Amino acid sequence: MCPPEHFSVTYSINPWMDPGKPVDLSLALTQWEHLRDHYRALGHTVEELTPQPDLPDMVFAANGATVVDGRVLGARFAYPERTGEAAAHQDWYRAHGFTDIGEPQHVNEGEGDFTVTASWLLAGRGFRSSPLAHGEAQEFFGRPVIGLDLVDPHYYHLDTALCVLDDTRDDAVMYFPEAFSPGSRAVLARLFPDAVLATRADAEAFGMNAVSDGHHVLLPQAAHGLFEPLRARGYEPLSVDLSELLKGGGSVKCCTAELRG
Ligand code: ARG
Repeated sequence: MCPPEHFSVTYSINPWMDPGKPVDLSLALTQWEHLRDHYRALGHTVEELTPQPDLPDMVFAANGATVVDGRVLGARFAYPERTGEAAAHQDWYRAHGFTDIGEPQHVNEGEGDFTVTASWLLAGRGFRSSPLAHGEAQEFFGRPVIGLDLVDPHYYHLDTALCVLDDTRDDAVMYFPEAFSPGSRAVLARLFPDAVLATRADAEAFGMNAVSDGHHVLLPQAAHGLFEPLRARGYEPLSVDLSELLKGGGSVKCCTAELRG
């Protein structure tokens, strides 16, 4: 995770970002610390990346790389405003003992568009990550990639539209169907017949931008509609308020890069 010390909305690269709307930096920090402390209270280790003053979106640490089985595929950002973040992440991995680090040739925004089930890598495309990055990730990780087409600019990253609830299984996800093309919706229905389906209201509250450890699901408190369906499937939903970070178009998952393996 990367503390939002330099978070601001000075440019707009997704429909949620309005540079005219002021950001309360101290509230953003408090909300972020609350999320970090929540992970620690659940027994998870949280590493912190040093934020840089000229990279206001760096708080969205999920976009900086993808780590599966201890292998790190670096990111390559779609917009010049965020390009500098990729090197900061790679430096962190090198300094922390990760040796298998892949340099991407094609645009991929890390876990913004890549997520992992027990056997597969689910991969979003349409707004940020290049379809060519999907092939690159499959080659790098040696896992089958399932490409999913995003069609609504409000759900510009896969992690704003879909969340894996248990990565030891291949059938435990929640998603917002309308964020996907008809073909991708059919793929999702075929692969995940028991998925939790989100309403527009819950997706708008960034309910899909959740992090699950297989039991606890941390998600924005405004995504009320998801709590009961999650409980009914045996998960324990825990609500977090990241309203300030929503002004940048991100929430729980965007702030969290997962170190798998
Ligand atoms: N302002 C950032 C952008 O548009 C937000 C990134 C959110 N991160 C995420 N994993 N969806 O790139």
